[in-house]
Amino acid sequence: MSAIANSDTNAAPASPPTSNPSSFRTKHVLLGATGSVASIKIPQLAQNILTLGHHHNLSITISIAASASSLHFFRQSQLPPKVTLYTDKDEWSQWQKIGDPVLHIELRKWADLVVVAPLDANTMAKVVGGFCDNLLTCVLRAWDMRRPRVVAPAMNHMMWEHLVTNVQVRQLREMGFVVVDPVEKALACGDYGMGAMAEPEHIAKVVVEQLLLQETDQ
Ligand SMILES: Cc1cc2nc3c(=O)[nH]c(=O)nc-3n(C[C@H](O)[C@H](O)[C@H](O)COP(=O)(O)O)c2cc1C
Repeated sequence: MSAIANSDTNAAPASPPTSNPSSFRTKHVLLGATGSVASIKIPQLAQNILTLGHHHNLSITISIAASASSLHFFRQSQLPPKVTLYTDKDEWSQWQKIGDPVLHIELRKWADLVVVAPLDANTMAKVVGGFCDNLLTCVLRAWDMRRPRVVAPAMNHMMWEHLVTNVQVRQLREMGFVVVDPVEKALACGDYGMGAMAEPEHIAKVVVEQLLLQETDQ
């Protein structure tokens, strides 16, 4: 799988280009997209992560693991250049026989950090329960728990205020996920309340902070 290379061994420059690439550290970010309407912000979030990383001398490469539902909300053509989009179909089309690379394992090895934004109620429940029935949840189930993981929930306010969500968000935090809380505003469904995904700029800030923190921990 030529598109995937471990950051330790990948010396190729990544986007965005820099005037002094030698001072930049290469980072690989896996961006998970789920079936929340907030997935319309995936292209903007990807750009925000690239731009903010650049300001911190990080040369970031992004791959996206998109659930089938998330693909209703954005198109590949909207993504910044060099961002690779993986779907559930890629998981199976890349594997023909024993010995072939398994995409969710390759992505897990490749990524320095995973951020699921938006994290919808369905995928939240699957992650907490350990279910893994698509590309994204397989990566999360196989995740190296020494590497940072960030989620930004997004859902209707009644779903957010539901006791199940309360319990699952607590469990996510106990499992070491950095949870970027949603915000209160007019929701896409017409309701008003808490549940909208945090702004992409804020999520990007948390992602870059976690990447920098990871460096100091090593
Ligand atoms: C237009 C539309 C918007 C949706 N927005 C949300 C949302 O913001 N949050 C949420 O938890 N589910 C939302 N859903 C429901 C999810 O898409 C649904 O639970 C789906 O099964 C999630 O699949 P996934 O977790 O594999 O991506 C929405 C559904 C539709 C049709």
